[in-house]
Amino acid sequence: MGKLEEELENYFDENYLPMHMPGHKRNIKLLGEKLPYKIDITEIEGFDDLHHPEGIIKEIEEKAKKIYKSKKSFILVNGSTCGILAGIRSVVNYGDKVLVARNSHKSVYNAIEINCLNPIYVLPKIDKYGINKNIKADDIENILEKNKDIKLVIITSPTYEGVLSDVKSIVNIAHKYKVPVLVDEAHGAHLSFMENSNFEALNCGADIVIQSLHKTLPALTGTAILHIKGDLVKEEDVRRELSIFETSSPSYILMSSIDECLDLIERNGEKLFLDYQENLKYFYNEAKALKKLKVLGNELLEKNLYDFGKIVVITKNTNITGKELSDILRKDYKIEVEMSSNYYIIAMTSICDSKESFERLLNALKEIDLKLEEVEDNTVSYKIQLPKKEMTINEALESKNFKLENYKNLEGKISKEYIFAYPPGIPIITPGEVFDKNIINIIESYIKSNIELISTFNKFPNIKIVVKK
Ligand SMILES: Cc1ncc(COP(=O)(O)O)c(C=O)c1O
Repeated sequence: MGKLEEELENYFDENYLPMHMPGHKRNIKLLGEKLPYKIDITEIEGFDDLHHPEGIIKEIEEKAKKIYKSKKSFILVNGSTCGILAGIRSVVNYGDKVLVARNSHKSVYNAIEINCLNPIYVLPKIDKYGINKNIKADDIENILEKNKDIKLVIITSPTYEGVLSDVKSIVNIAHKYKVPVLVDEAHGAHLSFMENSNFEALNCGADIVIQSLHKTLPALTGTAILHIKGDLVKEEDVRRELSIFETSSPSYILMSSIDECLDLIERNGEKLFLDYQENLKYFYNEAKALKKLKVLGNELLEKNLYDFGKIVVITKNTNITGKELSDILRKDYKIEVEMSSNYYIIAMTSICDSKESFERLLNALKEIDLKLEEVEDNTVSYKIQLPKKEMTINEALESKNFKLENYKNLEGKISKEYIFAYPPGIPIITPGEVFDKNIINIIESYIKSNIELISTFNKFPNIKIVVKK
């Protein structure tokens, strides 16, 4: 047994409650213990070929197409990341203008970079907890009206925190301008099976939809699906790009996992999703008793534009940060959450969480809540504004004139790097943009809250800046 495997076995025995990805939640009672080595083969005779499927793999893709009601579904073993890279590349030419939600995942920015795209950003508002709100169809329309040469609209719905956009309205507007819409639905592979869910991107007519099965469904890490719909995107173009961005040695373990996940949904999905939603209702209802901590789903006005599968617990106005809450949950309750930020934590849930799992999280939160103090929060909220763009992402990255500078001395300087808080990997600044006071305040608030910041060249707190001649 390898060391890592041994460590993983020991970790499993310690019975941590996994309120985070992947969606299979180590629930071997439900899923069995069949995976993985016995089925780890390569593309031998009789086992089809992911890049040109004609047999058993084609059958899995047909099943995905039927379940999700797509025109064509491609199964992926390199996560949504490869689907996003291939999906964008299948539509754009080098240098094209694209409309991009600023709160996009880094894979979207990587697609911008490798295709030398010209991004026009649409900015979601940010709520009082620092959470990106949804993308407004009106904003999309304004930008498309002013930029008739836009070739693709790229948005994320739901977001990491579960915020959904009105994809239908956005798609209707984009299609009026004959522009296809790509929805990064990495966090929404389960949405089709939830009641009252009218905002799944495929159902709303999006042209390209990418979903990570591993995030919210019982499937192994790395599994995803790219769906297409309508006539604006060609199947052959997507297939060609996937053959570039996806491994030529696809894992049969991962493909088996996709197959099993889809089978489970077909066979038992109705009951599993009913139980799951009952558990969620129970959780949100009970969570109303919390006095100092708050749960985002209970606070929202637009409840129909939210994925309740994400449990976002707010610590603002208490004497602890989100990071501190996640530390307490880990140390005192053996609950590991998906992510923590200044003002909140995200606990991810799925059909693999039992009623007991929800109770365990709930009881821990109730106990912690009793010990917390209510405090005034004087933090100035971030301004929602884009930093000034001095050069393109590619020009900054390719620039040979640069130096390292401490983040405290960055005001007015041009970044050669992305800076991300990870997760979720949304950039605070991109290469070619100019540091201003707002950006530096954001960086400082992350540092103060012990949130890890990652920069392109990994030298944070020093950052490469472009020196103009
Ligand atoms: C919004 C969003 N899109 C895309 C991705 C990439 O997904 P994957 O890890 O399946 O490649 C992530 C991953 O965290 C994400 O949060």
